[in-house]
This record gives sequence, structure tokens and C-alpha cells, in this order.
Amino acid sequence: MSSKAPARSLRHLLGIAELSDEDIAAIFSHAEMFKSVLGRPIPVVPALRGKTFVNLFFEASTRTASSFALAASRLSAQCLGFSLAASAVRKGETLLDTARNIEAMRVDGVIIRHSMAGAARFLSERLRAFVVNAGDGCHEHPTQALLDAFTLREKLGTLEGRRVLLVGDIAHSRVARSNILLFRRLGARVAVCGPPTLIPPRVEELGCEVFYRLDRVLYEVDVVNMLRVQNERIGAGAFPSVREYRALFGLTRERLARLARSAVVIHPGPVNWGVEMDYEVSDFPHALIMNQVTNGVAVRMAVLYLLAGGHADEDSPAPA
Ligand code: CP
Repeated sequence: MSSKAPARSLRHLLGIAELSDEDIAAIFSHAEMFKSVLGRPIPVVPALRGKTFVNLFFEASTRTASSFALAASRLSAQCLGFSLAASAVRKGETLLDTARNIEAMRVDGVIIRHSMAGAARFLSERLRAFVVNAGDGCHEHPTQALLDAFTLREKLGTLEGRRVLLVGDIAHSRVARSNILLFRRLGARVAVCGPPTLIPPRVEELGCEVFYRLDRVLYEVDVVNMLRVQNERIGAGAFPSVREYRALFGLTRERLARLARSAVVIHPGPVNWGVEMDYEVSDFPHALIMNQVTNGVAVRMAVLYLLAGGHADEDSPAPA
């Protein structure tokens, strides 16, 4: 498979809206190629040898931080970890000073997760290194959307014309915003459903329908995108009791049994089992939750490869 670069080179990955259709197609085609690399006995290519990135995570992460670190190592690059608790941020050093000092150590790319919406853009306007948004407040989580769409395309062939329902805490979910934007770009018909207190105002302006009763819409959709209840961001009073939430909006064993035969279920993780989903969903044959995690490495390899200019001096990033 040959390497196909996007029409213009990708400078940063801050959000879905900034990506052209060519960028998205290039990320998917490279992710497919890198997924085949990951299936080899030695799942490493020399494509980004000598490059160095930093995982600048100001919020907790298991999947995103680990898969960026793994993606870098599979491309023969280095990914420096950053421990917030052990850093000089604890002494009052600012985000910008932290990033500039790390960049001064000759880092090619900064992967940032931060509680403030706009943190990734803020750094992208001030650093020479490329910046990847790994989640900024309630704003966007573009690599999650890319890996979710990649996983759905792998299973369904296309998102064109598919009905996708995002369920739960839409208001505090950066995944929801990125996924709505990307699924719509790929031709899906998108709807959201949740308690009125967890649906943001004017969400329909993103091009999605809004439902407040799960049982009215759940059994008609092709994709159920369950979302984590973001306890750390929800204000007092916005969340019903766990019991009430599960009864009204949870993907329970009973609801699972009534889904369309071909319907698939995704969730970005981490899951609050017994709240947004019953544990039985993990055994559901059409649950793609672990496929999402596996694909996260290939999609993030593609993102790092394209941002780090891996195509500039390589005929093929994945020689057989
Ligand atoms: N989906 C996701 O962003 O998971 P982490 O918080 O573990 O990175």
C-alpha cells in the first residue's frame, strides 16, 4: 500500500472542523495501513525515527495517553511522559511556560489534554511544535472521533445514511461534540438523547435531532454511542439519581435485547458500569468498545505520522 499525503500538510490537530475531507481520508487510509503493521510479529516501522513528542496531560487518561505513547513507539519515535503531580505546575508554573520549556528540549510535537476549552489552540498559536488536542474541557476530542468513525467504517463499511444516536451527558462531553461533527461530515444522520439538564442549548445547530425519551428512538438506530456521565464536570442538580438515570437513559440488559439486529454499540471509555450501561453490554457481540481501543493506536499513528511530516522523505511508511 502506498503512502498518500493529504492535499496540504496537516499543521496541528485541534478539532474536527479544521480538518478537510482530504485530511480525514488521509488519516483513515494511513490508519488502515498502520493497523496492518500492528498485526505483524514485529509491529514497528522506522517512519518517525528521531522524532520526539510529549504527552502533556493535565487531566487523567488511560486510553488516549497510552495509545499516543504506543503509537509513537510503533513508529520508532519517542513520546515523553509528563507527570502533572511531579511537575513544576505544582509550584505555579503556567501552561505556556511548561510547554515552552519542554519545547526547548527539541520536542517535535505536543499532545495536550487540559480542562480548559481552547488550551490546545492557545499552545498551537505560540509553539513551533505541532499540537494535538487530546481533549480540551467540554470542547473537542478529535482523535476519539477519528478512531470511533474508523471503527464504525470498519464494521459497517460506511457511515453514509446510517442513523447514529449519542446517549447521555451531551453537555459535558467533548467526545459528543467531535463525534457529531465527524459523523455528520461522513454522511450519518445524527441524533442525541439525554436528560434536558445534560443537553446543551442549541445543540441542534450542529445538525442533529434531539430526543429526551430513549425508548422513542433507540430501537431504530444503526449505531448507539453511549457516553460517560462526566461526574467531575456536572454541577449539583443537573444529574438525576443513578437509579433514575439508569432507568431513563441507561443501556440496560432489557434495552440491549431490543436493539435492531445489526445495531452496534460504542463507548469512548471509561465506562460507569451500572450507570450508563449494564455490564452485559461488554458481552454483546455487536459491542465495539475494545475494537475502539485497539484502533486508537493505529489512528494515532496516522495522526502523528501526518503531523510529523513522515511522508516527506518516505516512499512508504510501512515497508512489507
Ligand atoms: N476515551 C478517552 O479519552 O479515555 P481516556 O480518558 O482514558 O484517555
